[in-house]
Amino acid sequence: MLLIKNGRVVDPVTETDEVLDVLIEDGRIVKVENNLDYESEKASSSCDMGGMEEELRVIDASGLVVAPGLMDAHVHFRDPGFTYKEDIITGAAAAAKGGFTTVVCMANTKPVVDNVDTLKYVLEKGMTTGIHVLSAAAVTKGLGGSEMVDMETLAKAGAAGFTDDGIPIMDEKLLAVAMKEAKRLNLPISLHEEDPVFIDAPGVHKGKVSEEIGYGGASRLAEDIMVARDCALALDTGASVCIQHISSGNAVEYVRTAKRLGANVHAEATPHHFTLTDTAVLEYGTLARMNPPVRTEEDRIKIIEGLKDGTIDMIVTDHAPHSEEEKARPMASAPSGITGLETSLGLGIKSLVEPGHLTLMQLMACMSKNPMEFYGMKPVSITGGAPADLVIFGEKDKWTVEGFVSKASNSPFKGWELPGKVHYTICGGKIVYSAD
Ligand code: DOR
Ligand code: ZN
Repeated sequence: MLLIKNGRVVDPVTETDEVLDVLIEDGRIVKVENNLDYESEKASSSCDMGGMEEELRVIDASGLVVAPGLMDAHVHFRDPGFTYKEDIITGAAAAAKGGFTTVVCMANTKPVVDNVDTLKYVLEKGMTTGIHVLSAAAVTKGLGGSEMVDMETLAKAGAAGFTDDGIPIMDEKLLAVAMKEAKRLNLPISLHEEDPVFIDAPGVHKGKVSEEIGYGGASRLAEDIMVARDCALALDTGASVCIQHISSGNAVEYVRTAKRLGANVHAEATPHHFTLTDTAVLEYGTLARMNPPVRTEEDRIKIIEGLKDGTIDMIVTDHAPHSEEEKARPMASAPSGITGLETSLGLGIKSLVEPGHLTLMQLMACMSKNPMEFYGMKPVSITGGAPADLVIFGEKDKWTVEGFVSKASNSPFKGWELPGKVHYTICGGKIVYSAD
């Protein structure tokens, strides 16, 4: 039994925001009440157990927020194939430290998750971690863009959805067929939107900064043209489509229009895209190289507006661990991406809640309820009978970004002071991370 006392319960599912006690037993929330009578709960529980005293733990959450466990619908755990960067165990530990109880792994492993054996490997290893590790499967074999995977077989084997993330799907005919198949299987399909034709060099926005450092850069048009195309395809096919890690203000506008037209289209924003602009490259070098790149202040503001009006419904990290040696290479040969799970909640509060763009409730919806609904799951909620997946954090509790649990530390946010320190992450009633 676990009793969380006096926490501010912020639950976007029930739209609760009040100080309550939460009682957990056998992996489930059994009661959520004001001033729960702990002694009598204990007595009745030991009666149930035939007089045996069950271990009972109390967490004093006074001054802390108690929210549904976070979900990151976009992580790269690099397992199998690139476990020198991260593996499923260390990735899940980084997730738990960040307040996440559910993650969706991307398919760009080696081998690629385009077959049942690799998918099963990920899911089975994920089951040993203490959190819920789901995996997407690829859309095309080997992420090659030309031959579709057997989506039905992968769906039956437990794929959460489909994506060639990391690589755009250039064949629109193939994509239309894949969208229809995803719809038939009732699973979402997610898209990395960067047309290589408009990328002179990846990872840095093509503009003043790229010119200044003498780097080719990736233009906004590379994203815009694909998002416009895929909004049209989503509208036509009716599939549940996600525009991954949206980076261009124009692309946000395309998604907004497509939604208005009735497309079942969704979008993700990452903490780096709503926190940084392309000038970050001047300060952080390759640690600010990511695909798609962080762009201008105008784009950043449009992403925030998209989050405010629900055009962008999910906040994801695109957790992309790389080794120190890889990120020490020159800009042109360093890999793209940053490790994100441990800084996401803090950046969400710092960049969105503190300036008044989103309420904490809205942030929690973007980080748990909405991604869960996108994946067809019942969103976790802090109510009696629900699975006990929770995060306990201090909204204003400052902490310094250091000492990563991830194998990687490729983050431009190293040394930043962030709010939102996670105190506990609880998954299935078990404490999977504790700061104390
Ligand atoms: O920057 C990125 N890195 N963007 C992606 O889409 C893929 C990711 C990776 O796998 O490293
Ligand atoms: Zn990604």
